[in-house]
Amino acid sequence: MHKGRARAYTNIALIKYWGKKDETLILPMNNSLSLTLNAFYTETEVIFDETYTQDSFYLDGELQDAKATSKVSQFLDIVRQLSEEKSYAQVTSKNFVPTAAGLASSASGLAALAAACNEALDLQLSDRALSRLARRGSGSACRSIFGGFVEWEQGTDDASSYAQPLNSDDWTDDLAMLFILVNDQQKDISSRDGMKRTVETSSFYPGWLEEVPKDLAIAKKAISEKDFTTLGTVTEANCLKMHGTTLAAVPPFTYWSPDSLKAMQAVRSLRSAGIECYFTMDAGPNVKLLIEKKNLAQAQAYLETLFDSAQLVSAFAGPGIEILK
Ligand code: DP6
Repeated sequence: MHKGRARAYTNIALIKYWGKKDETLILPMNNSLSLTLNAFYTETEVIFDETYTQDSFYLDGELQDAKATSKVSQFLDIVRQLSEEKSYAQVTSKNFVPTAAGLASSASGLAALAAACNEALDLQLSDRALSRLARRGSGSACRSIFGGFVEWEQGTDDASSYAQPLNSDDWTDDLAMLFILVNDQQKDISSRDGMKRTVETSSFYPGWLEEVPKDLAIAKKAISEKDFTTLGTVTEANCLKMHGTTLAAVPPFTYWSPDSLKAMQAVRSLRSAGIECYFTMDAGPNVKLLIEKKNLAQAQAYLETLFDSAQLVSAFAGPGIEILK
């Protein structure tokens, strides 16, 4: 019996990962840059035991169905290939999210699983090797191995595609992210399916690929100079470009709901009123504000006039992977 436990925090990309050049290895089409957050995380325990007759997966206390388990099993197969281990495993995960608002993240989930396997099987993977392993489960998970600002270097093969932290710890202490949790009536299109459809069919996708290196360079320079205005401006612009690509996909789609637009407008109003903040969005309707901590309370007070206070959740920069005993 081999057992390991780990905690991983979710991350939100400021410069987005959107599209794969290799779907099996999960090699992305572009570099991306994220901020790891402290408010949302996953704790996972994995037990490999030779008496098990199949892999099993419990999430938040419930045994998961074949579909959810097969995603975990595929990842465990990669781990079993990498190690001498042949046994099946039991994976028990708990997502710590403030409300059941679609915030459970594959990034924290797969990063925690990778770290728990590393621990259980004493693989002694370096953080870089762990980032590569987590990437095989879900691309954005490779960034959750590290805290603060993190860049995922796209690379050209399995060995060269991994995340690494940017040295910016003292500045991340000044920053916050405010989530506006938005209701959505639409049927979900996962990030995996959405990016695949976009790469294959969107006539706007080549434009996205041209823009990302420029946006990334601007964001990295802004981080090194602690220039919040420039970082926020490029974050918002990059998000809009990513979401623009979905409108030209065949068939077209969008992750935005009416309330997403209401939230974006609220951000613009805050800025006009001199409270600097910028939005970003991922493969869903929730809107996330990048803001300096010193302005958080004022922004929250204004947003509470437009949204229910239960819809507003704030987070700060979070750490990298943690091993639990
Ligand atoms: C929009 O990492 O969830 O959040 O690699 O297919 O598991 P897979 O996709 P995933 O995609 C995240 C996309 C995004 C942008 C980002 O986090 O960079």
